[in-house]
Amino acid sequence: MRTQVGIVGAGPAGLLLSHLLHLQGIESVVLENRSRKDIEETIRAGVLEQGTVDLLTGAGVGGRMAREGFRHHGIELRFGGRGHRIDMHALTGGRSIMVYAQHEVIRDLVKARLDAGGEILFEVEGVSVRDFDTDAPSIRFRKDGVTHDLACDFIAGCDGFHGVSRPAIPASVRTEFLRTYPYGWLGILTEAPPSAKELVYAYHERGFALLSMRSPEIQRLYIQCDPEDDIASWPDERIWGELHRRLAADGWRLTEGPVIQKGIIAMRSFVVEPMQYGRLFLAGDAAHIVPPTGAKGLNLAAADVSVLVRALVEHYRTRRAELLERYSATCLRRVWRAEHFSWWMTSMLHRSIVDDPFQQRLQRAQLDYVVSSSAAAKSLAENYVGLPFDW
Ligand code: FAD
Ligand code: DHB
Repeated sequence: MRTQVGIVGAGPAGLLLSHLLHLQGIESVVLENRSRKDIEETIRAGVLEQGTVDLLTGAGVGGRMAREGFRHHGIELRFGGRGHRIDMHALTGGRSIMVYAQHEVIRDLVKARLDAGGEILFEVEGVSVRDFDTDAPSIRFRKDGVTHDLACDFIAGCDGFHGVSRPAIPASVRTEFLRTYPYGWLGILTEAPPSAKELVYAYHERGFALLSMRSPEIQRLYIQCDPEDDIASWPDERIWGELHRRLAADGWRLTEGPVIQKGIIAMRSFVVEPMQYGRLFLAGDAAHIVPPTGAKGLNLAAADVSVLVRALVEHYRTRRAELLERYSATCLRRVWRAEHFSWWMTSMLHRSIVDDPFQQRLQRAQLDYVVSSSAAAKSLAENYVGLPFDW
């Protein structure tokens, strides 16, 4: 087997890369170890930055998103029992976000690739990336019990945080930065109409809570919990009790409905430098993780991919390697901005597990500042809707 770009992982990074390369006449093959059904049903992110929306729309895969997604011009910060709207649209000269589930983006991209005759091999096993320090890299994998070698010009490691690509880079040439947080998020999907028109990020003495949505009938809700908690210790009544208390505001009611999905995620910040080695390029969660509070993970994956596509196009059109050589440095500038923003949002909105009155006063001071100073609000808004992709 041979292709131009061998892609490991059919998450948003790998699928978008494959689609954008196809539009530029560059061939790729995507290798994914899960089934199509599994990747199309896993519940994850929900917020797309303006730049991600523009990228998907420009690539012809934004039709369903435009019809079924929710365009939001603001978010609410809720604390002290009342809400404070951050008007992102006004503060950023007309930019906004789209609430559209990650698995819907995945469905749209898988369909676009397969309709165009693209190759996505699902349920592959034993993937290993090889010889990327030479001009003839390859990816070895098993499919239906048979071992194959996919020869390619470049390998894109889009296989998420637990993938095989990053660890294949020699430890002596990579530096990893990690911060873990003593918080987890318990997320639910519930069959109830959204209780608010925009996302609500709540700071409360019992811990953070977040109200989001998926459709006119489905709400997405999160609460801060202990990352070690067993989901079994969170029966639905306990979750609703916490949501009601943490999201409480005068004259406002949270709508309840049957819980159709629930799970707990840990939170971490992580970056590997550099994001490339020889002919192997990492993109998305394979190279960096942010805590979900700033809604940046999927968007960073899209930004990496747009940089990589431009560099590969330059390579194939002109045989020049400057953009490929600068790939990691170009991406890392945005990555570290998003790392800071996500850490900052997380630190401002989560309640320390040990009682820390000094920290609590700082958090309230910061929240008061963000909702009363247009300079502070503008900074939050600019980061939240996302800096331009060529920032
Ligand atoms: P992934 O989505 O992890 O995809 C990697 C793919 O590679 C997977 O399909 C995996 O099965 C496959 N794979 C792994 N190993 C191998 C292997 N060895 N061989 C073959 N295939 C392999 N981000 C936002 O921008 N906005 C949000 O609102 C947001 N909310 C979030 C909420 C939650 C609860 C969570 C968990 C995450 C959230 N994120 C959010 C983060 C976002 O989901 C990730 O950043 C995004 O999925 C990264 O995409 P990716 O393609 O890099 O990696
Ligand atoms: C959602 C997830 C996030 O991490 C966030 O900050 C906002 C919304 C969501 O899943 O809808």
